[in-house]
Amino acid sequence: MGTAAVATAKEVFDLLHHDLLAIEREFGRDAVSTVAAITEITGYLRESGGKRLRPSLLLLACRSLGYSGSAMHRLGAVVEMVHTATLVHDDIIDGAELRRGRPSPNTTWGNSRCVLAGDWLYMQAFRVALNERNFRVLELLIGLTQVMVEGELLQAEKLGRPVSESEYNELIYRKTACLFEVSMRLGAVLAGADRLTEECLAEYGHALGLAFQVVDDVLDLTSEEAILGKPVASDLREGKATLALVHALAHATAEEGEAILQVLADGAFTQFRYQDVLTILDRHGSIDFAMDVARKHAERARRSLDCLPESEYKRALLWVPDFVVNREK
Ligand code: IPE
Ligand code: IPE
Ligand code: MG
Ligand code: MG
Repeated sequence: MGTAAVATAKEVFDLLHHDLLAIEREFGRDAVSTVAAITEITGYLRESGGKRLRPSLLLLACRSLGYSGSAMHRLGAVVEMVHTATLVHDDIIDGAELRRGRPSPNTTWGNSRCVLAGDWLYMQAFRVALNERNFRVLELLIGLTQVMVEGELLQAEKLGRPVSESEYNELIYRKTACLFEVSMRLGAVLAGADRLTEECLAEYGHALGLAFQVVDDVLDLTSEEAILGKPVASDLREGKATLALVHALAHATAEEGEAILQVLADGAFTQFRYQDVLTILDRHGSIDFAMDVARKHAERARRSLDCLPESEYKRALLWVPDFVVNREK
């Protein structure tokens, strides 16, 4: 690997502190409309925290390649705005009630206003990106948005029934990993990296994003609402078959399999309890299996950084996969 040790959380936070503050200021300036509902909804989410993982990746991609211009703050805000827009829409689609430990916007402002605020936020992200006068940047963002929207539609078609592992992988690439990948690519583009270097960073974002969503799906099954800031077991209630379930279905007895399929089809714990599903997952080591898969994606992400020169930013990038796999929320 070359680089002696990976960084610590505090080192990474200190490293990015000023850049992240600049991105917050940019986001705050960008997310303002003359129509109050838009400013309120975007402001509500902006102030409710969030890990700011995607802008952090963009910053680390830039800085690991020696770039430090202000465009990375503008595009950092852009990727966070796109992320925020997807959350606003996702919570409507999922009928979610909690986001970042607070009532989700749809519960306060209603679906109609939230759909429109999400649309506005997408367009605002594109408007800010347009200022870079760089077609590659726009091409990446447009492709990304289409992949993500297609992903939500594909997922909707599969609700209530099992999916294969490759269908699952496609879904999580679309809904999550693609944005991680594009955040890394945008960093490479700003830094004027050659195509090979951009592909290494893209591979990192892709693998890291897969790890991230596998862990998100595990946490949905194993965590607590107070820690996660969003409801647990919501994927089962939404009829979403995630990786641990896919694994369990392949190993379960006929009776266990029927229980899982019933919960998915009902999107509710009417005939079987949540605990029954957890017992089945436990019996077949399905959560451990999913976490092993996440760790493999994380390792692949780390390995793809071999193309980068040594720096504290590379060390930070090497740390992120650990953070993603071991996080509690
Ligand atoms: C939530 O992403 C949506 C998923 C892709 C699972 P994050 O977990 O990064 O959300 P915040 O921004 O930190 O709240
Ligand atoms: C996350 O899917 C994907 C997007 C937000 C685009 P989930 O539905 O699993 O996300 P959470 O769990 O609601 O954050
Ligand atoms: Mg959701
Ligand atoms: Mg989830």
